[in-house]
Amino acid sequence: MSTSEYHTPVLFRESIEALDLKEGSVVVDVTYGGGGHSKEILKCIGKEGVLVAFDQDEDAVENVVDDDRLIFVDSNFRFLYNFIKFHDLLGVDGLLADLGVSSHQFDVGERGFSIREEGELDMRMNQKAGLTAFKVVNNYPEKELYRIFNSFADLKNVKRVVTMIITERRNQEIKTTGQLVRILEDLVPPKKKNQFLAQVFQAIRIEVNDEMGALMDLLEQSIKVIKPGGRLVVIAYHSIEDRIVKNFIRSGNFEGKIETDVFGVASLPFKAVNKKPMVPSIEEIERNPRARSAKLRVAIRT
Ligand SMILES: C[S@@+](CC[C@H](N)C(=O)[O-])C[C@H]1O[C@@H](n2cnc3c(N)ncnc32)[C@H](O)[C@@H]1O
Repeated sequence: MSTSEYHTPVLFRESIEALDLKEGSVVVDVTYGGGGHSKEILKCIGKEGVLVAFDQDEDAVENVVDDDRLIFVDSNFRFLYNFIKFHDLLGVDGLLADLGVSSHQFDVGERGFSIREEGELDMRMNQKAGLTAFKVVNNYPEKELYRIFNSFADLKNVKRVVTMIITERRNQEIKTTGQLVRILEDLVPPKKKNQFLAQVFQAIRIEVNDEMGALMDLLEQSIKVIKPGGRLVVIAYHSIEDRIVKNFIRSGNFEGKIETDVFGVASLPFKAVNKKPMVPSIEEIERNPRARSAKLRVAIRT
């Protein structure tokens, strides 16, 4: 499968430029996917450069290019520090995180990510992980369902969503994406259906993959992994993850609260390069509608 069939890289030029690559740069791409960004990084780092790439999806392994400068790690990026230390590469020049799921993951129905494709309720990026969407939908206590839909989706009718799921699962297990869609689709007018269902699926997916936990672990460890002057480049696809990135770059914590010492001096691990995030152009969104919610933030390790 070609890179573009697997996934079309988003904010491609902007993110590569933001990494400020040079001959000999040591770089980490924590979200390899189809390898679109990684292949371009390899073009820019010369013979002496090194690229460490992570992806927890075993399908991504198929896209790994044969290149002596590339170290591929088939693991969750939340273990970044340990792997980079193991390879004796602490103090990297740049780190790229292009968060969320690939087009491939959406497009393969059996993976259960898509509201349009029939498949089992799975949604695991790591096919060996224990928690599936089936377990969340069928086994989570009511209180936990409220938590995920309130935290990870922008929904006005959380109570009705939870009630429909609880009522249905008393009668029979909710096994497929199609079943979940049919249970919920009449809760909103037909015009709003896709957006509403996408939000419901997004919340379940974030929970299944503990996406916010992994992102926070990654950001915290990036302080020890990137050298002073090195770049942190993150592309986020929804407001919850973008807020985490924004607060962290601003303050070094997830609340966005700048803490000072007794002399009133703040020691901040990063300095933002741009105040506002970069977003895709109209042309990019026309070419690749999946780019529409992307926000790119860039920071320099201080
Ligand atoms: C948006 S795609 C990246 C696409 C890539 N930049 C390209 O050009 O093809 C996100 C990828 O990151 C992976 N991923 C997401 N969260 C991860 C995590 N916590 N650990 C490792 N891989 C993760 C997904 O499996 C997916 O393949």
